[in-house]
Amino acid sequence: MKAAVYRHYGPPEVVHIEERAKPEPRENEVLIRIRASTVSSGDWRARSLKVPAGFGIFARPVFGLFGPRKKILGTELAGEIEAVGSAVKKFKVGDAVFAFPGFDLGCHAEYRTMPEDGRLVLMPTGVSFEEAASISFGGSTALYYLRDLAHIKRGDDVLIIGASGAVGSAAVQLAKHFGAKVAGVTSTPNLERVVELGADRVIDYTKTSFLEGGDKYDIIFDTVGNASLSSCASSLKEDGRLLLCVASLFQILGSFWSSMTSKKKVIAGNAAERVDDLRTLKELIEAGQYRPLIDRSYPLDQIALAHAYAETGRKRGSVVITMDRATSG
Ligand SMILES: NC(=O)c1ccc[n+]([C@@H]2O[C@H](COP(=O)([O-])OP(=O)(O)OC[C@H]3O[C@@H](n4cnc5c(N)ncnc54)[C@H](OP(=O)(O)O)[C@@H]3O)[C@@H](O)[C@H]2O)c1
Repeated sequence: MKAAVYRHYGPPEVVHIEERAKPEPRENEVLIRIRASTVSSGDWRARSLKVPAGFGIFARPVFGLFGPRKKILGTELAGEIEAVGSAVKKFKVGDAVFAFPGFDLGCHAEYRTMPEDGRLVLMPTGVSFEEAASISFGGSTALYYLRDLAHIKRGDDVLIIGASGAVGSAAVQLAKHFGAKVAGVTSTPNLERVVELGADRVIDYTKTSFLEGGDKYDIIFDTVGNASLSSCASSLKEDGRLLLCVASLFQILGSFWSSMTSKKKVIAGNAAERVDDLRTLKELIEAGQYRPLIDRSYPLDQIALAHAYAETGRKRGSVVITMDRATSG
């Protein structure tokens, strides 16, 4: 099978296509013919080792001291089950599924095995493989932060910084689903798109300093990482929550202090990766409450271009990789 492999950390060009052995499912596993995946912010960070300030010394121990431990990137996929192990009960050959191996990675290839009890779910009805491949990374991060960490509730005033990214575009839709009043911060070309996602109000960060209008929020969800902690904190209501999806080590240490000394909470950390969240997202899609936003697609053999584009930090939603258009030998 074709797979996008990287053997060294570095620029997008370190990722190249190689021929690899097609995996065999173990007795409790399914073999998925991958039809689409994404190049997420997690992928380009793992490839380049560009991580938030203060985490540089942890990056190599996490991803591989002398080179990438997992050489095929890709956190999410959609495809069809091509074979099942002898003990598999929940899935059958031909099922269309989406999956979120997350930081187990391995989705930038034509095939991947998954345990049947892994983060693997039947595809929602009425979505393409490209959309299904784009559900998990942004959707489960937004769900975890808003529902599990911030305990979002009906009527909350929520500000989403980076409302057009993979996490932000999911956060706008999920916050609306939870009954919040949503303001989205984005740049001029994305204003209309963020309104289409359901935001009640959009703020153009290229024209307005979005924290200086005097508005107070129950939740500020920063998916970009360049707003100052003190300005965000002063725009929170008395018991507001500041969610830092991307935070420096210094900000995380500061968050412990501010949470101990104030009713306002600063919350950061890695999002959980759970199959139940995929099921929730599937139900929301089928109920018309969530639709992953797709920016553009690249065939697998143009994966370096996809990495370069994702790393600009300007993508709208997901950058998709499709396997069917890969030039196979
Ligand atoms: N903690 C966790 O577990 C976790 C999980 C997932 C992701 N993350 C991190 O969260 C961050 C967001 O992830 P993502 O996948 O959503 O990234 P992404 O898709 O690359 O986000 C890109 C978006 O950010 C917007 N943006 C850039 N600068 C902005 C600014 N100054 N103000 C407002 N919007 C701005 C861009 O809109 P414009 O073009 O309009 O500027 C673009 O649409 C990444 O740093 C990622 O590493 C953390």
